[in-house]
Amino acid sequence: MRLLLTGGAGYVGSACLRWLLARGHEVWAFDDLSSGNAAAVPGDRLIVADIFDRAALARVLRRHRIEGVVHFAALASVPESLRDPASYWRVNVQGTREVLDAMREAEVSLLVFSSTAAVYDFDAAMPLEADSAKRPRVPYGESKLAAERQILDYARAYGLGVAILRYFNAAGADLDGRHGEWRRHETHLVPRILRTATGELEELLIFGDDWATPDGTCLRDYVHVRDLAAAHERVILGLEPGDRRTYNVGTGHAHSVRELVAMAERVCGRAIPHRVAPRRDGDPAILIASPRALMAETGWRPECSDLETIVSSAWRWHRDHPGGYEGSPGRR
Ligand code: UFG
Repeated sequence: MRLLLTGGAGYVGSACLRWLLARGHEVWAFDDLSSGNAAAVPGDRLIVADIFDRAALARVLRRHRIEGVVHFAALASVPESLRDPASYWRVNVQGTREVLDAMREAEVSLLVFSSTAAVYDFDAAMPLEADSAKRPRVPYGESKLAAERQILDYARAYGLGVAILRYFNAAGADLDGRHGEWRRHETHLVPRILRTATGELEELLIFGDDWATPDGTCLRDYVHVRDLAAAHERVILGLEPGDRRTYNVGTGHAHSVRELVAMAERVCGRAIPHRVAPRRDGDPAILIASPRALMAETGWRPECSDLETIVSSAWRWHRDHPGGYEGSPGRR
């Protein structure tokens, strides 16, 4: 298929792009590099531009005869969204509308949208199904839910085929060790643990150990980024104009913060300095996906989302790329 990935230089977007290219699809990334990494994308596949430049986006869609868009471009940090909601509403909601309007202009009728577990009511029974109650607690989740609603309105009115994928905790690096998770301002657990293991961070803060969970730390459903990429391919290959689908992408199993630290200490062969800090605003105690619908309707199965593969692949990348993409051998 001929696909355009907005945000295709980001962590999940670029993993998806590399997966799709390796599987013989014609794929391009459209990314303003505000948080993505040019080095994560093969050079001739990267178009550096902003989704707010709708004319440029429509031109690219036409020029490459794009059949479907995967819209990753977004702001995606819970704590940042609490400090700066204006940017979250602008990029995640208005930005999504720009993408939808460019698609209309260029007559592209298939869209896969990157959404999040943050749209759910965290008091709902776990694991969460796509139709579990929604009650976002933070601007990140609010803005993604609003974007989903826009997409569904456009789909109903203009006959688009859309699939909304709600990710749980994406983690891990490419199994060949060449690409991994790297952001200038990192808030996510796995990279923070491993950047502590390399000595880049002095210590890991564990946000609360008094949660109602077996070891007192939060439980999350970690899904390997390669499994996430495979889910996108399965979903878009089956998508037809007029379809409106929503799937959770997770494994149905959860691990605690302490379990991740213990796994990282084993995989890295060293102690990871850590201490318990107060709870972080907006965090739920437990977040678990039900991937039942995705599995039943597309045949998707997680293949490398066990904790050891997630942590060891991420560790290989962090160990070999101190300083991330800028500091990596390929960029020197
Ligand atoms: N954590 C720490 N220390 C850190 C970083 C994280 O203890 O330095 C903990 C968090 O409190 C949380 C867990 O590790 O319990 C995972 O945190 P992440 O920041 O890696 O990811 P989130 O669970 O916050 O993010 C996930 C999804 C989002 C979704 C969010 C909803 O990735 O898409 O849950 O709360 F919005």
